[in-house]
This record gives sequence, C-alpha cells and structure tokens, in this order.
Amino acid sequence: ETTTPAPFTVIPNRRPASDEERWLAMEDPVFGKVFTDHMARATWRDGEGWTQRRIVPLAPLPMHPGAAVLHYAQQAFEGLKAYRHEDDSIHLFRPERNAARLAASARRLALPELPAEDFLASLEELVTIDQQWVPGTPGASLYLRPLLIATEPSLLVQPSDEVDYLVTASPVGAYIATGDQGASIWVSKGYHRANAGGTGEAKTAGNYAASMLPQLEAKAHGCQQVLFLDAKEDRYVEELGGMNLMAVRADGTVLTPSLSGTILPGVTRDSILTLLKDSGRTVEERDIELAEILEGIEAGEIVELFACGTAAVVTAIGRLVSDDFDVTVGDGSPGPVGAEMVGALTDIQYGRAEDTHGWLHRV
Ligand code: COI
Repeated sequence: ETTTPAPFTVIPNRRPASDEERWLAMEDPVFGKVFTDHMARATWRDGEGWTQRRIVPLAPLPMHPGAAVLHYAQQAFEGLKAYRHEDDSIHLFRPERNAARLAASARRLALPELPAEDFLASLEELVTIDQQWVPGTPGASLYLRPLLIATEPSLLVQPSDEVDYLVTASPVGAYIATGDQGASIWVSKGYHRANAGGTGEAKTAGNYAASMLPQLEAKAHGCQQVLFLDAKEDRYVEELGGMNLMAVRADGTVLTPSLSGTILPGVTRDSILTLLKDSGRTVEERDIELAEILEGIEAGEIVELFACGTAAVVTAIGRLVSDDFDVTVGDGSPGPVGAEMVGALTDIQYGRAEDTHGWLHRV
C-alpha cells in the first residue's frame, strides 16, 4: 500500500530533565546509556500502512509478552549521529543512506519499509525538540537509534501484522576508549557472524546477538574486539562485531572486504572509501584472505589496520590474535592513514571542512 508522509505530532515531555540533570548526564556519557527526553514513534498495521507519527516523552514500551520481536527477533535498526557545529547549527550525516539501509533491512526481515520522508522527518523533529541534548564538546555527538519492531502478539513464525517504528537519542562520546596503542583484535575461529543468504548485510539484532559470545572470547584473550572470518571457507576476513575493516599496504593502497552479502554496508565505510579516493589513494574492495593480512604484516607489506563505524568512527588496530598467532601491526600504535581519515571525516561532520559531497543534512 502507499502512504503519504505526514508530519510528526509533538507531545512534549512535561517533566524533562532539568538543566543540571542534563549537564551531569552529558558530562562523560557511557555509550548508549543516557537518553534524551523524547522519542519518535510511528505505527504500522497491515492494510492501514503507517499511522500515528508522533514525538512523545521517552517512556518504557507497554508490550504484549507474545510480541513477535521478543520471540523471533523480527526487527531492524539503524545508527547515525547529529553533530553540533561551532555556529550552533545541528547536522545529520548522510541520513538518506540510513533510510535506504533500514528499508533494505526491513525487506530482508519481512518488515514494512518506512518511507525515507518519514525517516528524515522523525529525526529532524526529534533532534529539534531535544536539541539541548546535542553535545558541543569535541568528539561528542547525539547518537540516533531508529528501530523497527514486530509487535503483534503471535507465536506463529510469520511476519507481524503490527510494527512499531521508534527512534531514541543518546548523547555520546567515544565508543571504544582509544589510547596510544591500537586495539587488540581476536580473530574468531570457532564462530561466524553470517552466512551467504543469511542476514549478514541487514542491520538486525540477531547479528549482534550472535557476536556477543565471540566478543566474550575476545575479552578472555585480552582483546577489545572480535574479527569474523567468512562462514563458508573460514578464510576471508569479513567484519568486526560492529565495524568494518580496512588494511593499508606499504604502497598506500587501502584494502577492504567487498560487500559480498554477508557484511554490513557501513555508511562510515563508504564515506572513508570516498575520502581515500579523494586524497588520491587506490582502494581495493575485494575478498581478502586472513593469510594475506598476516603474511603482509610479517613482511611489512601491510602497515596499518583500522576498523570503522558510526559509533566507533575509526579504531586503530595494533594487534591480531588467535589460538595460533599473535601479530603486531607495525609497532602497535595507531597509523597515519586511520588518523588522517578520522580528521577528514570529523572535519566534515563538525563543519570544519567544506562538505564537498553534500553529506550533511541541516536540521
Ligand atoms: C553503529 O556503529 O552505529 C552501530 O550500530 C554499531 C554498534 C556496535 C554500536
């Protein structure tokens, strides 16, 4: 069915956080643990389409214990950020990409697609009403978490006839604390993230749920993050628990796994590939064997590894570890290409550099 976009009705929170509560909450927020005063919502019913577009006070969701999302994880989500510029204007970064990816995830999860106009309107209106929650400190931003959930009370394994769309907002700083050493990464041998034909390229809860046990395994080995290999041959590097991977060769070429259907098409991944090409570098998107990376590091041909994502931006990788190897990339410290990319990307996001690609969407 077709739906016509309509503005979101605003029902303001009568008891918003006081200035002092907000300042305290925003001082050094743990990623995703602080939430603003409002959330966006819309409701879909089979036959009716999307209705009840609204911005409401943040509150727990009354939900039937039989709601399909609780049993079969029929859901999809997004992650993007709003940035405050020096002139106090607020900008979303490439939100159209997130709209398109949420629609693609929705198709894979047999959920209704939310029109891009509604997606953008929900973000603009939520950020506007909660604008005091958008941090102005360097490196901080307002992380937006759009969500589609199947709410029909039904234990039948079939698409829900009721779906809720929600957006929460969280002031955030760094996702992973970065130091003068790059992160140590555990290469998972026993576990895989996604298989061909599965949900690996959709942004859906199950992929992240499946990464938690391997992530614990990583922690147990003194590593901050896990890197997955392909499920079919156990040979090619895919992605980390919530970030895409990039490798820099000594000749300056940058390698990254191609979007084969099992990895998430990251917006930060795409933006960095574009910025790398802008800076005259050669980028290779292709299958990359773990052996190529390990041998390359040993031979000094791979000189830098980093991970990238919306939440984490760029995380330098200093070490790759598994049962049968432990290799340090260069001297283990963050490399220049990752640093250059954080600079180039955040300069655009925070309005310090010209937005030549038209990536910013002013709220
Ligand atoms: C993001 O980067 O926005 C994600 O959704 C990844 C998650 C690990 C926080």
